[in-house]
Amino acid sequence: MKAQACTPCAVAEAAEALEAGRLVAFPTETVYGLGADAENPDAVAKIYAAKGRPQNHPVIVHVAPEADIRHWVSAVPPEAERLIAAFWPGPLTLILKRAVHIPDAVSGGQDTIGIRCPSHPVAQDLLRAFKGGKGGVAAPSANKFGHVSPTMAEHVLEEFEQETRPGGLIAAVLDGGQSEVGIESTILDLSRLTTHGPVLLRPGHISATQIEAVLGVLPASPDAAAPRASGTLDAHYAPSTPVVQVPSEILDQVVIRLQQKGKKLALMSYQAHPAIHASDWRHLPAEPAGYAHDLYAGLRELDHAHADAILVEALPQEKDWQGVNDRLRRAAFDSHGVLEQLLKDD
Ligand code: TXA
Ligand code: MG
Repeated sequence: MKAQACTPCAVAEAAEALEAGRLVAFPTETVYGLGADAENPDAVAKIYAAKGRPQNHPVIVHVAPEADIRHWVSAVPPEAERLIAAFWPGPLTLILKRAVHIPDAVSGGQDTIGIRCPSHPVAQDLLRAFKGGKGGVAAPSANKFGHVSPTMAEHVLEEFEQETRPGGLIAAVLDGGQSEVGIESTILDLSRLTTHGPVLLRPGHISATQIEAVLGVLPASPDAAAPRASGTLDAHYAPSTPVVQVPSEILDQVVIRLQQKGKKLALMSYQAHPAIHASDWRHLPAEPAGYAHDLYAGLRELDHAHADAILVEALPQEKDWQGVNDRLRRAAFDSHGVLEQLLKDD
């Protein structure tokens, strides 16, 4: 399959495929999503099958800007109304108590639902065409479970080579160019306001500080009883090459030592390091939004180098960098001890 340019015709066909219970990958401003009719449990089951994702992980429901979210949730607290007015359409997912008729498949059996209205024009066209704008499209990121999320249509085709063949699980991949934000939406739990207040389940482009500016309280960090979220698993968003974060101050030294040992390295940095040389090297912008935009495409490209490790220059710890730091930490989670081992090897 080739990704389809987003002509009105391609969007209408994609909406029909969704209505027929098939899967469609589509662009959003955060990352590409793998969508199914949220009210069709068989269609939602295909998402889990294609991704290789555990069944009990809930998926986010995407709705058109004009949609009535009361169809999906049992109550809309004033906090949700204020956040929706401030940030929708946009990269903010709200967790609310779900309406009784919402299939278990969407909520992973929990009594909540994750809902968001994306700002990407193609996502909006698709949501408006699907069931006349009254439906919801359940869509996790369009990657195999645990992998790096796709920010371009070609990433989706690469992830789902089998599933996008004729007769495969995925009926269409809409190409809407590179995702503007580049990391997944901020997820805010509003389902336990009276007991826990707003809880930030996953940091993203919409920051805790921006949420505080609207609600008057800073969202709390997740507690043990917070709703489960697969994007909050420790190891997630990972390429196949081990990812290792290295402090700026020692990056030059580490790279030179490893190269002397004959190791093949891929590098990702946001500052200049004139003392080192490497062929597989991505220089990312030195500000959080630009960095997020390029992060996943960079990791994918460096993964293709089949290096011994992807060394990532550790980022500043300031609040603005929380979203990208969160993703990098998870991408690097399974790489504990890798650097030490590479340095020890002869
Ligand atoms: O930016 C995004 O959010 C992208 C695009 C496609 O919209 N989607 C995305 O979906 O990242 P996914 O499935 O890869 O991550 C969604 C996260 C998961 O961690 C899931 O567990 C959590 O949202 N989630 C969804 N519904 C939930 C619920 N009812 N309670 C708790 N967590 C929920
Ligand atoms: Mg995901």
